[in-house]
Amino acid sequence: MADLSVKMAGVTFKNPIIPASGSFGFGREYEHLYPLSSLGGISVKGMTLHQRDGNPPPRIAETPAGMLNSVGLQNPGIDYFLEHELPNLATKGTIIIANVAGSTVEDCIEIASKIEGTAVDMIELNISCPNVKEGGVAFGTRPQMAGDVTKAVRDVTTKPLMVKLSPNVTDIAEIARAVEANGADAVSLINTLLGMKIDINSRRPVLKNNVGGLSGPAVFPIAVRMVWQVANAVSIPVCGMGGVSRYEDVIEMMLAGASTVQIGAALFTNPTAPIEIINGLTNWLDERGIKNISDIIGGVKPW
Ligand SMILES: Cc1cc2nc3c(=O)[nH]c(=O)nc-3n(C[C@H](O)[C@H](O)[C@H](O)COP(=O)(O)O)c2cc1C
Repeated sequence: MADLSVKMAGVTFKNPIIPASGSFGFGREYEHLYPLSSLGGISVKGMTLHQRDGNPPPRIAETPAGMLNSVGLQNPGIDYFLEHELPNLATKGTIIIANVAGSTVEDCIEIASKIEGTAVDMIELNISCPNVKEGGVAFGTRPQMAGDVTKAVRDVTTKPLMVKLSPNVTDIAEIARAVEANGADAVSLINTLLGMKIDINSRRPVLKNNVGGLSGPAVFPIAVRMVWQVANAVSIPVCGMGGVSRYEDVIEMMLAGASTVQIGAALFTNPTAPIEIINGLTNWLDERGIKNISDIIGGVKPW
């Protein structure tokens, strides 16, 4: 059988499949479906310094081949995670990726400092959050801000640092280069694309927040394009995501340059998608006599 293991930023994943932040909670709701040890890793729900209730409902809406969400980072806060969720996750035999969200650079520093010395294997720094000290502009939309927050976290953590990029930018490769230059060990992309849905009868936006993040199969080709652009722009590894729902999508993402792949929205319609994808990958590789999945990373042959 083909070897599905991959190494990314010094961390060995038994396979490249990782449930994406915000789609898998802390794993508890999925444990009765399959052992979490089957997964390459888990990116937990984004955590802020303090507990957050998120945005008021409605905050989820279906769209053609996708979904909009404006959950607004509802989470129990970093201290709760470290005390009540991490000890459980640490027994599961999978890579634990702590997704960190801060509204200021200082928040990000404090959260990352709390994670230092714990069983967390890797930090995923979400830079799609608004920086409240810069008029609410998302960290990930300006190279300078993206670089500054990366450096600030880099300075307080020895954990492998993956920075999660926002697709709501003109040139994502420029942001990727800025975070690489400031000490990121890997980048992950894409976060959701800003979208909107309006009820034509009430003339009200369907989401109480008016706008939300689009994810699911609708965004897949955009994600592949961005992964390819970023993989060609930096020399650190790339974790790809956005609209992945089948094993064929994972192969496409890896050919574009991703070392690992996260699955988000697909989990809401098919909670066992990661397992089906892992089995599909093994069969696809075996049928072609490819011994190591890592051999396909970046294997696209552009015209
Ligand atoms: C309901 C929901 C909640 C999310 N929460 C987070 C989060 O807390 N932190 C984060 O970095 N990304 C979050 N995301 C973004 C996903 O991790 C992923 O980047 C995005 O949805 C694209 O992948 P997909 O099309 O497979 O869902 C969330 C996505 C959804 C659908």
